[in-house]
Amino acid sequence: MHKKILLIVSILVISRFSYSQNLLAIPDTLSGTVFNLNIRDTNKVFYPGFTTNTFGINAAYLGPTLMLNKGDSISVTFYNQLMDTTTIHWHGMHVSAMNDGGPHITIPPISAWNPTFKVRDHAAMYWYHPHMHMMTNLHASLGAAGLVIVRDSTEATLNLPRRYGIDDFPLVIQSKCFDANKQIVIGNASDSVMMVNGTINPYLPVPAQVVRLRLLNASSERVYNLGFQGNLSFFQIGSDGGLLNAPVSLTRLRLAPGERAEILIDLSGKNGQNIYLKSFASELPNAIYGATQPGMGAGQTIPGYTANVLNGADFNILLLNVMSQTALPVTSIPSTLVNNTIWPVASANGFKTLTFSPVNPGPTAIQGPFLINNTSFDMNVVNYNIPLDNIEVWTLTNQSPIAHPFHIHDIQFYVTEINGAAPPANLAGRKDVILVPAMQTIKFITKFETFCDTMNMYMYHCHMLPHEDEGMMGQFVVSCPKVDVGVENILDETNAVTIYPNPAQHELHIKSSASDPIQGVVLRDLSGKILWSKQKICEAEQTINVESYSATLYILEVKTRSGIIQHQLIRSE
Ligand code: C2O
Ligand code: CU
Repeated sequence: MHKKILLIVSILVISRFSYSQNLLAIPDTLSGTVFNLNIRDTNKVFYPGFTTNTFGINAAYLGPTLMLNKGDSISVTFYNQLMDTTTIHWHGMHVSAMNDGGPHITIPPISAWNPTFKVRDHAAMYWYHPHMHMMTNLHASLGAAGLVIVRDSTEATLNLPRRYGIDDFPLVIQSKCFDANKQIVIGNASDSVMMVNGTINPYLPVPAQVVRLRLLNASSERVYNLGFQGNLSFFQIGSDGGLLNAPVSLTRLRLAPGERAEILIDLSGKNGQNIYLKSFASELPNAIYGATQPGMGAGQTIPGYTANVLNGADFNILLLNVMSQTALPVTSIPSTLVNNTIWPVASANGFKTLTFSPVNPGPTAIQGPFLINNTSFDMNVVNYNIPLDNIEVWTLTNQSPIAHPFHIHDIQFYVTEINGAAPPANLAGRKDVILVPAMQTIKFITKFETFCDTMNMYMYHCHMLPHEDEGMMGQFVVSCPKVDVGVENILDETNAVTIYPNPAQHELHIKSSASDPIQGVVLRDLSGKILWSKQKICEAEQTINVESYSATLYILEVKTRSGIIQHQLIRSE
């Protein structure tokens, strides 16, 4: 009799122990200007006794945090050691379309991709993740993603916590579904396990001072309504692509897939306290993935949604254990941060209207797929051709029963209107993702600057990854200005001369034919100044080393017996 009771007691103790909390993993950092990243099939123990297959980048799950300085020129080599073709996109970063890593820039198995570019972004947290068409959700869910922290001289002058892993912590927030064998699966509404930085049920010792948390919602679909136990107030200091003008005091922060936010929380005097970072999803309005009802209107739901314990519930994300102060603590919240200058709406010279709608109207509308302007993504269709330096207002109208987080590559934008009203202060900064609630309209303004390239495309899409994979995406090119340098007898580009690659980074090759050889080549900058020339030749091929030229536009003229070809050339980063 006594033995039986003892046995029951010990089982209770063991099971309690196995649900104990885990020290939060903090991704390793890499700094400098040359990075080597290996994407590989690997595995990780999320649950004792189970080995979960993952995609890791230099790690078992997620990749290292790249610490970059604005103005540095960096070179990154991604080695794809997977059995799958993938791509890696620099989410939020302003890079040329060739370096952007969208679905066209594929990295086949056992090969490498080497983007090289100058860091032009404001100090903030960005991320890199796969963007293979129809495979993004699978590849990202398996763990092939990492963070980028950009520092700049403006941010450096502010009295902010910036000691990574000491008073400045990255938090990659994800919900995930594991099957009975603890393998990661993607599917309908079954993401009931929360993790931060790949740690399930995490705790983090933090010092009793002002602490900076850099939040990324890297979930496939789930929206969080973040806040602290006891409704502690905190300050949002940054949005996706930079610091806000001033800290914004909040008790709740809604974070949609793809979005980042930097917050400060003042833990001074709280030594010894344990405080949960939570999602108060019970407070989310309906028609958002994560709320009690995911859809707007009777019956608009997703199979399995109501059975998922996270939906419409308040749940823990991370336990903060407040410890003693560090040396040189930050103990106050700055009153101002940076000066974001927004283009005046009156200066806009381009306007786009994008309407989101379900493929199937009616009771199953919420299950997707979804369309943008009644079309599904087509790799071979360029949806917009935007002239370089256009300032544009985009109007996003959601005519579907669920909120969609809209993301656009290349640029950061400023939200100008949410249903006709000015955005709240924490949404008024630099953004590359904005949640567009069901049946609402949001406008933003942006400028398509620095990079033009008529061959390589940038994407815009819903950052709910199943929606993206199912075609809720479009693409645009930023076209280069036409330049007149007064050359006569210009042949069009259908002539037999081929010039490649364009953009070029190292060597530019010009090929004609033996029957119509190259007689002269002139490379000019946009002011018409000659940078390189070779005349009175008679060759079928020429090579120009363009490495020493800066990344911008040039005009190349190639003279053959049949005429002169004028070509816009781009020296890539
Ligand atoms: Cu984070 Cu086009 O993606
Ligand atoms: Cu969507």
